[in-house]
Amino acid sequence: MFHTEVCDILGIEYPIILGGMVWIGKADLAGAVSEAGGLGLLAGGGMTLDEIASECKLVKSKTSKPFGVNIPMIRPDVKEMIETSIENGASVITTSSGSPKKFTGMIQDTGCTVMHVIPSVGFAGKCAEAGVDIIIAEGIEAGGHDGFDEITTMALIPQVVDAVDVPVIAAGGIADGRGFAAAFALGARGVQMGTRFVATHESAAHQRFKEAIINIDDCGTTLTGRTTVGPTRSIKNKLTQQIQEAEKRGASTEELFDLIGEGRSAMASIEGNI
Ligand SMILES: Cc1cc2nc3c(=O)[nH]c(=O)nc-3n(C[C@H](O)[C@H](O)[C@H](O)COP(=O)(O)O)c2cc1C
Repeated sequence: MFHTEVCDILGIEYPIILGGMVWIGKADLAGAVSEAGGLGLLAGGGMTLDEIASECKLVKSKTSKPFGVNIPMIRPDVKEMIETSIENGASVITTSSGSPKKFTGMIQDTGCTVMHVIPSVGFAGKCAEAGVDIIIAEGIEAGGHDGFDEITTMALIPQVVDAVDVPVIAAGGIADGRGFAAAFALGARGVQMGTRFVATHESAAHQRFKEAIINIDDCGTTLTGRTTVGPTRSIKNKLTQQIQEAEKRGASTEELFDLIGEGRSAMASIEGNI
């Protein structure tokens, strides 16, 4: 029942994707997800070209199954990131944060698959026109950066499914079998999860970040950047409060990005400053 066309396109057993997660989605996690039959993605966003090459090699030492790399289109070296990923064995490129149009043909010409992450029906249509193989529709429940229109996964998935002819993967707020089944009921042909995979032994997240995810309740996350640099879902803490206060007093984009950048010390660094 759960073997879908997404499995055939990606060459995987289960239509479960590890979302690219900057600083967290490294070889141990990507390799484990692929080896278990899903699709592991390395988070290219926080990596240099050399790191992408070495992490790809490390994934290949852990599994012979397909894996991919997530590449944010805002990086100036997107072309080189794609080339490095494919040369080192990735068979899937997930593009996010910008239009995939310029690079879709280049990736597909090498025999690799392109998936793109979108937050609304309008962007899904543009992606389909750009020729991507699979669309990942991500609702506002998702951890990390979200769409300005704040559409929920429940409302977004059926509308995207109706609007495009390519298979749709659901993302945002899916953490167990119930969410997986719900995504299929909405018409998705697979799921992408992020937060749930942060709290695994294999993720590169700091132990305190993993524990914080396990321990928060339904009110434990918040959105920053809603009217400024873009909605971002994080665990509520002093830093998110500081960012929200800075937004209220009209802080510059530069100041906001500086504050947001400090999130790294909570997520993956040796401090684990939750
Ligand atoms: C800590 C964290 C970092 C993330 N970094 C990225 C990223 O670098 N690129 C990207 O496309 N998505 C990123 N995401 C989004 C995930 O790939 C995924 O789509 C999202 O987490 C799904 O929603 P969920 O967290 O509710 O499972 C990130 C998510 C989290 C939680």
